[in-house]
Formats: sequence, structure tokens, C-alpha cells
Amino acid sequence: MAETRERWDSRGAFIMAAIGSAVGLGNVWRFPYIAYDNGGGAFFIPYFVALLTAGIPLMIVEYALGVRFQGSAARSFRKVGRGWEWLGWWALMVGSVISFYYCVIMAWSWRYLYDSVASIFTGGVPWAGDRAKDCFYNGVLHLSKGPGEVGGLVWPIVGGLALTWLSIWWIIHKGVKRVGKIVMLTVPLPVLILVVLFIRGVTLEGAASGISFYLTPDFAALTNPRVWVAAYGQIFFSLSLGFGILIAYASYLPKRSDITNNAFITSFSNCLTSFFAGFVVFSVLGFLAHQKGVPVKDVLSSGPGLAFVTYPTAIAKIQMGNFLIAVVSALFFLMLLSLGVDSAFSIVEGMVTGLHDKFRANRGVICALMCTFGFLAGLVFCTDAGLYYLDIADNWMSKYGLALVGLMECIVVGWFFGSHRLRKLFRREHPELAEGAPLCGPYELKQYVNEVSDFRVGWWWDLCIMVVTPGILTGAIVLNFLDYLKEGYLQGPGKPYPTWAVVLLGWGLAGLVVLLGIFFMVLRGGRDEGEEVAS
Ligand code: ALA
Repeated sequence: MAETRERWDSRGAFIMAAIGSAVGLGNVWRFPYIAYDNGGGAFFIPYFVALLTAGIPLMIVEYALGVRFQGSAARSFRKVGRGWEWLGWWALMVGSVISFYYCVIMAWSWRYLYDSVASIFTGGVPWAGDRAKDCFYNGVLHLSKGPGEVGGLVWPIVGGLALTWLSIWWIIHKGVKRVGKIVMLTVPLPVLILVVLFIRGVTLEGAASGISFYLTPDFAALTNPRVWVAAYGQIFFSLSLGFGILIAYASYLPKRSDITNNAFITSFSNCLTSFFAGFVVFSVLGFLAHQKGVPVKDVLSSGPGLAFVTYPTAIAKIQMGNFLIAVVSALFFLMLLSLGVDSAFSIVEGMVTGLHDKFRANRGVICALMCTFGFLAGLVFCTDAGLYYLDIADNWMSKYGLALVGLMECIVVGWFFGSHRLRKLFRREHPELAEGAPLCGPYELKQYVNEVSDFRVGWWWDLCIMVVTPGILTGAIVLNFLDYLKEGYLQGPGKPYPTWAVVLLGWGLAGLVVLLGIFFMVLRGGRDEGEEVAS
């Protein structure tokens, strides 16, 4: 009996969910800093090139696999060729590890949201008066001196983590219909808050210098290959490519749904949000620099520092009374939570779809197990040394994990999808092709994409999938690895992390996700309907 797959309520619900997955914490804390650090205004050139040559082509691949094969990343790759199932599992494993710490960052945001609201009654936010650094690293994280000092669990963060996983479970356990409804709130809400924060930000003294700092181009940076590597890395993380999410989301679309337009809408919405977030962040940084009487670059920080130290410090300095400071701070952390939640649950959805497609077990049970496991796995990042572990895991998963999955996706789809069986099938469907004409590359998938989409992809897509994107991703992985060999992975300027920590949380975790991918592949799953596609 044919499988009846769940469906999105509408194309709009799918697009909103895909945008929600893409637009996440990465847009607010990563993009503005990376843009500044890699040439300011000039960074938009490699970023745009990366979007066109890797982001959009690979998003088309992921959507096409999902729509064509109607299954999770693992199931779709199995249908490309039985031996490739591990690649799908690998993507899902990398995504799952990212979700374990991504949810911890959301747990910090819960804590800050609580503190912001509580400050209405206590007379001021606890990070006022330049205390944000101390408040974050000591008060919130209880950060120890190094990865070797694990300490105990930090209970308020554990509480926030439980709240985050409960929300994820509640949103996804009923299936994508509920997801489609939730994203109608979680996608526009943070954008609306960004607009409010933008208006507040640009009307502050010094805002203009912050924005001009963000946009002033340093064209010399374009000759540095690391700037290009950073642009490709940011596009990957930000568009949620290589997590297996987009394949799962697309698999809930009917089989003949448009692919290319959906990919263009998702990726442009995401990149515009990042660009806009830059104005919000840099206007406030300009204000902070003006208050302190220092250049903007001196108040800049990336990652957790930007969202949990610099931005709150700046808000607390605005002359608008404790109540409004509490409101603006609460809005900021509510924005982080609403930005993060739809990215977080999309990652979990990718895995849940994978397990459900393979084992045909009850979706609610899989969801509950996955969320419980995610919560337990995340506890390691809630210890006193959690920030160090998070930093190492994030570096390995985003620099190597996602890049390797993307590279393999290009190689498999670009070079192996025209495998013997598929070629035979393709030739049967296309008798007009001359006998003996070379048939390699993503022809079959391209044919499918062009049949179902309004906007047709041409030779440029083959070129990107077969040569440009894999070439650049290989370059990025090699460059990152050479940097690692040269100086190790740094905890601070000139201070490498201890080898055991890197081996355990970097290479160890990366190796484990590959092994688990293979393990899941060899497990026997339920009967797979529609296996006829590639045989
Ligand atoms: N794409 C998500 C983000 O940017 C993972 O945060």
C-alpha cells in the first residue's frame, strides 16, 4: 500500500518554515561581525558570490531531493544510490549535534529574558553600569578557568534548556501542520522586533559612525582567500544547508511542487534579514563607542559576546529609564528566542523525519525520545566549562561537518547521480539523447527541477554543483585544516585549547557522527515505499 505522507497546509507554510529555519541566531550574532571582520562593505561581494554559486544551487539540490524522493535526507540519498544513505544520516547527525548546543544558547536567552522582565520590579537590569561581562561569564555561565574544570551543572541554564526542548517537542510532535502554523508567528515576530530595535538604534547618538563602520569597504580584503572561506561558511550555516533540514521540509510538499522559486525566496529573505540585522547591531555599537569615547572596533565582539555582553551593555546605557531599558532588553532576547526556535526545531524535525521514514515508528514517540536525548546531550554545555565545549563543538561542526556534508552532496549529486541505473532510466525517458553521448552530472535531477519549476536552471547550475562549489568547499576545508595544524584551535589570543579537549569535542565528535551515520545505515528499517525510483 502506498504511503500517505503528511503535507504542509500551503506552499506559504512551507516557505515560512524554510525561512524560519534559515533565519536564526546566526543572522544576528554571526553575520554582522563576520562582515566587519572580512572587509566590511566589501564582504558583500564574496557573500553574494557565495549565495549565487553555492547557496542557491545547493538549496535547489536539497529541495529537489526532498520533493523528488519524498523522504528525509537519509531516505533521499538511499534512493540516489543504496550506498549513499550514510551521507543523509551524517547530515542529520551533524545537525543534531548543532541542535544540542544551539538550544543551550537559547537557554541563556531565557535567562536574560527572565532577568529583563524581573528588572521592572527590582529597579534595573543586572548588567547595567558596564557589569555585563561579569554578569554573563560569572553570573549566568559560572565560567570556569578552562575546559579541564568541569564544575557542576548551572541550574538556571538547565531550566532554560528544558524549556527550549519542551517547546520544540510541543511544536513538532504533531507534525508539519502545526509547524506551519507556528512559523506564521515565529518568522514575522523577530523581524518586527528587529524593525523596532532598528528605529531605536538609528536614533541614538553615534549610530551613524557604527553603520558607516559596518558598510565601509576594504577592497584589499578580497584578495585574501580566508575572506572567501568565511563568506561560504556563513552562507552554509545561515541557509541551513548540509543539516538535512531542507530535504525533510521539502519532502512534505506534493511531488510536483516548484523548487527553484522556493529556493530563491528562502535564500534572499534570509540574506536580506542578515543585512538588516547588521544595521540594528552596528547602530547600537556606534552608540556604545560614542558613549565610551573609543573607536567602534574597540567595542566589537563576536559570538556570545555580541549578543550577551555588548548589546545588553549598550541598551542599559540609553537614557530612557529602567522600565524602557527592561522593555528593549526583553524585546531583544525575545527576538533571539523567536529567531532561534524555528531554526532549532527544524534541525530536530530533520532527524525525526529521518527516523520516522526509516523505522516507521510512532512519530510522537520518536519526537519525545529525540527531545529527551537532545536535552540530556546538551547538559554537557550547561556545566561551568560548557562555553569552552560549545565553542570547540561549534567550530568543528560548522567548519568541517557542514562543509564536508555540502562537499559530498555536490559530489554525489553532481558526479554519481548519473550512475549506471539512473542513466539507463534517464535514457529510457529521453530517447532523443544520442546513443553514446556522455551522460554524467546532475542531469536527471535537473530535468526534474525544470519540469516542476517556473524558473528553469541551466548550465550554470551543473557548473556550480560539479565544479565551483566542491572546489571552493575543498579549498575551505584544507585552509581551515592548515590553520589548525599551524596553531591548534585557540581559546584566546595565542592560547590553544588543550589537546584532549580538541580530540574529544572536535575530532572525536566529528568521527562519532560519521560512525553513527554508518551505523544507522546498516540498521534494517521498515519497508520503504517508492523504492522503485532508482532501480
Ligand atoms: N540557519 C540557522 C542560523 O542561522 C541555523 O542560525
